Amino acid sequence: MAEYINETVKIIEERTSCRSFIPDSVTEEERAVITSAALRAPNGGKMSKFSIIDVRDPELKKKVAKWCDDQPFIASAPCVYIILSDFSRWFRLFSRHVKSMGAPINFPREDEILLCEIDAVLAAENMVIAAESMGISSCFIADMILNYKEVKETLKLPKYVMPVTLLVMGRPKVRPARRSARISAPFVYTDCYQEIPDEELDSMVDPLIPVDAKGEPVMTEDEYIRRYYIRRLGSWLSFDRAMNVKEMFADWLKNPYIE
Ligand SMILES: Cc1cc2nc3c(=O)[nH]c(=O)nc-3n(C[C@H](O)[C@H](O)[C@H](O)COP(=O)(O)O)c2cc1C
Repeated sequence: MAEYINETVKIIEERTSCRSFIPDSVTEEERAVITSAALRAPNGGKMSKFSIIDVRDPELKKKVAKWCDDQPFIASAPCVYIILSDFSRWFRLFSRHVKSMGAPINFPREDEILLCEIDAVLAAENMVIAAESMGISSCFIADMILNYKEVKETLKLPKYVMPVTLLVMGRPKVRPARRSARISAPFVYTDCYQEIPDEELDSMVDPLIPVDAKGEPVMTEDEYIRRYYIRRLGSWLSFDRAMNVKEMFADWLKNPYIE
């Protein structure tokens, strides 16, 4: 086993996503530690523009699993957290306090969508690391946005609240034997971005290609890249996701930006 400079780095380096959990394996005390870590995450302007729905109802868990492209392990996870970006709290404050001055109000725009998402994602990752430190594994699932309308109605989301990601957690039934692979491309550049040559770019996927019993890759770089294209940009699912996001953004944005 590798040596790490400290326990925190070890947790980060050895974390793997988990999709099989021991039932009821997270205590209320541990849940409180996890959600408290969310609030301690860095956040723009000390505004903490995110919320969490802690899904406890087993029937709702099943519904959430269906929303996320029907991934059943979600329904059997002890903790199912829906991470939301949330400008609603601050907009309610702004509306009341600015309106009482008799001034027109500006609505939150595209920049706030991005900034709220950053707050939400940072909060979620803090939850992951806090959980790992207690032996609790997790998995992100972003496919919440495949059913935006139903998600919004079921969870009673007000305006300026959007689903960002699902985060499931629990003590692992089966921990993956190995960490999953990562791309091999350089990703840290000094001072400015550097395009890498095509051949180097192709070999970026080499560590991701599955290998057979002899350790030989089971497909070429070309085949792997084409398959991935279909999954990410070519499938109906990916179009479906895009349409849902478009609707979600349209719900948030007002034109003109001012009352
Ligand atoms: C935005 C996002 C979406 C993901 N969606 C899913 C998902 O739908 N189902 C799933 O089983 N894992 C999902 N994952 C987990 C990834 O598959 C996992 O992080 C990746 O394979 C790397 O493996 P590791 O986390 O074990 O290092 C998602 C992760 C992220 C960050």
